[in-house]
Amino acid sequence: MSERVIPLIDQRLINTVARIPTTPVAPTGLLGDALGRPLRDLRISVTDRCNFRCSYCMPKEIFDKDYAYLPHSSLLSFEEITRVARQFVAHGVQKIRLTGGEPLLRKNLEILIEQLAALRTTEGQPLDITLTTNGSLLKRKAAALKAAGLQRVTVSLDGLDDTIFRAMNDVDFPVADVLEGIEAAQAAGLGPIKVNMVVKRGTNDHEILPMAAHFRHTKVVLRFIEYMDVGATNGWRMDEVLPSAEVVQRIHRELPLVQLGAAAPGETAERWGYADGSGEIGVISSVTQAFCSDCNRARLSTEGQLYLCLFASQGHDLRPIIRGGATDEQLAGAIAGIWQGRSDRYSELRASLPPDASTGTRRVEMSYIGG
Ligand code: GTP
Ligand code: 5AD
Ligand code: SF4
Ligand code: SF4
Repeated sequence: MSERVIPLIDQRLINTVARIPTTPVAPTGLLGDALGRPLRDLRISVTDRCNFRCSYCMPKEIFDKDYAYLPHSSLLSFEEITRVARQFVAHGVQKIRLTGGEPLLRKNLEILIEQLAALRTTEGQPLDITLTTNGSLLKRKAAALKAAGLQRVTVSLDGLDDTIFRAMNDVDFPVADVLEGIEAAQAAGLGPIKVNMVVKRGTNDHEILPMAAHFRHTKVVLRFIEYMDVGATNGWRMDEVLPSAEVVQRIHRELPLVQLGAAAPGETAERWGYADGSGEIGVISSVTQAFCSDCNRARLSTEGQLYLCLFASQGHDLRPIIRGGATDEQLAGAIAGIWQGRSDRYSELRASLPPDASTGTRRVEMSYIGG
């Protein structure tokens, strides 16, 4: 037969198998990468599935009923995740964010939260444990998440107008249910709650002011995110990015703002407060003002691949080490070796290229490694 079967390219790309260095670096809580950036923030994806189909993240045409999600046997167990997280904490991680896909779709997530909540930083402090969710299951789960030891949540919400919101999540999910989820999270004490709104020019930018007005006086911190060229399936175009400077201007014209200082080194958002003291907002400008220079974030995929940048085209496979009988010291040594070799600063480099230079590049999907 002359016909050849051409395999479909896996969205998850090819990874390098992480190695245990011959002289492992023992954790000291102070691990620097090749650019001197410390490791402080670990984002753990607990599922690659989601019940929404936001076009900027999981477009329906790609993530359809035939899409090959990870099989259950590939997923790290809660014990495996906690073991890896413990090594990261020994290297200086202070904040853990659970992501997805939609993390609340992972069964019994409260058990993982309980295990992570028992970890202590190298200074003996509890970790900052948080979770990014689309809010669809929050009303049902907020109290149990709090009881398990979750401190706070960040809810993704791209608008208040029901028609626009239903169109953006592309599964016809009503905005009222997400708002109820946010209220349930507030009632459960999962604060300070943050709401993340991805702004796409021409799609939901007219929702900026209604969103700002809605969340003033509520203690919820609303953050506006520049639409990013992350992944390889969302058909990103520069003309759909609304620069954060314009977001700030539009709000400031109606509701005067004053700039606030950074709360923590390496944070993603620039903070602004309403001049009348009625609340705080943030803008996350990874397209127009990259913040790679002190990026302290590592990402662990659902099946144990370590990614050093949101825009990476390759991860480091920790699973053979986790499942291959390595000691904790060896696992910590492998993580140290990978972090020490890190020089990623994608957004900064991209800023010096023509706007659409990265179109078509193969990159890991955000639904696979989490935001
Ligand atoms: P807080 O600790 O609550 O301030 O969270 P955070 O801002 O560190 O994390 P979150 O996941 O809420 O980030 C909000 C958005 O910022 C994400 O959804 C991404 O769009 C973007 N973002 C987060 N981390 C990075 C990063 O390392 N690089 C880039 N380019 N964008 C990021
Ligand atoms: N640009 C910016 N943020 C994105 N997210 C997902 N895809 C993108 C993108 N293309 C972020 C959003 C969402 C979180 C889960 O991931 O903040 O709230
Ligand atoms: Fe799901 Fe969040 Fe991606 Fe939307 S942005 S498809 S809610 S993971
Ligand atoms: Fe960090 Fe990469 Fe984002 Fe830059 S683009 S801030 S290096 S994750």
